[in-house]
Amino acid sequence: MTVIKVALLGFGTVGEGVYSAIHSHQTQLRKLLGKEVEIVAILIRDQTKERKIDANVLVTTNFEDIINIPDLDVIFEAIVGEEPSRSYLLQAIEKGIHVVTANKEMFANHGHELIQRAQQNETKIGFEATTAGGVPIIRTIKQLLQVNRITKIQGILNGTSNFILTEMRERKLSFDKALQLAQKKGYAEADPTNDISGIDAFYKLMILSQLVINQQPNWSEVIIDGIVSITQEQIKQAEKRGQRFKHIAEITFNDHSLVASVQPIIVDSNHPLYSIEGVENAVAIEASLVGKITLQGPGAGKLATASAMIEDFVDIIQHSATKKRLEYQSI
Ligand code: NDP
Ligand code: HSE
Repeated sequence: MTVIKVALLGFGTVGEGVYSAIHSHQTQLRKLLGKEVEIVAILIRDQTKERKIDANVLVTTNFEDIINIPDLDVIFEAIVGEEPSRSYLLQAIEKGIHVVTANKEMFANHGHELIQRAQQNETKIGFEATTAGGVPIIRTIKQLLQVNRITKIQGILNGTSNFILTEMRERKLSFDKALQLAQKKGYAEADPTNDISGIDAFYKLMILSQLVINQQPNWSEVIIDGIVSITQEQIKQAEKRGQRFKHIAEITFNDHSLVASVQPIIVDSNHPLYSIEGVENAVAIEASLVGKITLQGPGAGKLATASAMIEDFVDIIQHSATKKRLEYQSI
């Protein structure tokens, strides 16, 4: 039986999640794809770290070792920051290797370029995991866009911030303790600055904007605020009034302008995002025909993010297989 060969870039929270999901769901994948999925290589940065990886997998710090693997089908990218991620993915696409990424910072900045290159090279790029963790928001929007016109998106897009606000209110943890816990659970970024300053949610909102109208607002015109200055006392006072702090990202697609903001807002108990707690994300989409749809689920973490990446992977393999089959039939 031939295999589908894949490589992982990064073996942190997300990379490990993909590795374990491929192993734990091999039977299901074989049933769906008709082939075994083999992880042939993993790119890391620090070779001295101890890792639980099968001995037959190439573990390397050199991307060239990976890009030159014969018949490599898909690269899962879960490293950090714009570079070298962008360059690696461009090289993969040029070589006809499909890519699945979780890297929102890179994708908010360079997603448009990567999608164009992928189209030119007849490869595919999956980016479900860049936004709202395990919540299938990208595929839902793609599906809606076939006929609907999306007019507004509002949601909680950063699991770490929502987790911290919940822990500060429910268990009276200090901001620092709650952040440490989010880091321990694998929700926060290695450097959590973007989580707590609103930048991470901003990147996700920009990815959604690009998807919806193939355009992003002028970044300097977007209000971006995080949760760092919210105190225990403010949370307590809000609770006494029956209200909660929620970190809300929203964008309105007007005919001639885009209005976007990412900021903490005090909401009443009748607000749809009031009861979204812990690491959960929720995204409400308003669209011309369907009205309002809200999706909710785990917004960060190892397996939730791996789930989004594996679903992308299956779509990619199934669609590229369909294409090959159609090409074959037309010969
Ligand atoms: P981690 O910090 O846990 O892991 C990052 C991994 O990438 C590590 O294995 C690290 O190597 C490797 N790495 C980083 N830079 C390089 C480089 N230049 N070359 C080779 N390897 C590199 O991060 P996460 O797994 O949490 O996140 C990975 C990506 O996924 C990020 O872009 C993040 O924003 C995104 N993401 C994270 C989610 C989460 O819940 N954690 C959810 C959705 C997206 P080494 O192990 O040697 O240090
Ligand atoms: N650090 C991110 C969050 C991970 O907490 O939402 C998911 O993108």
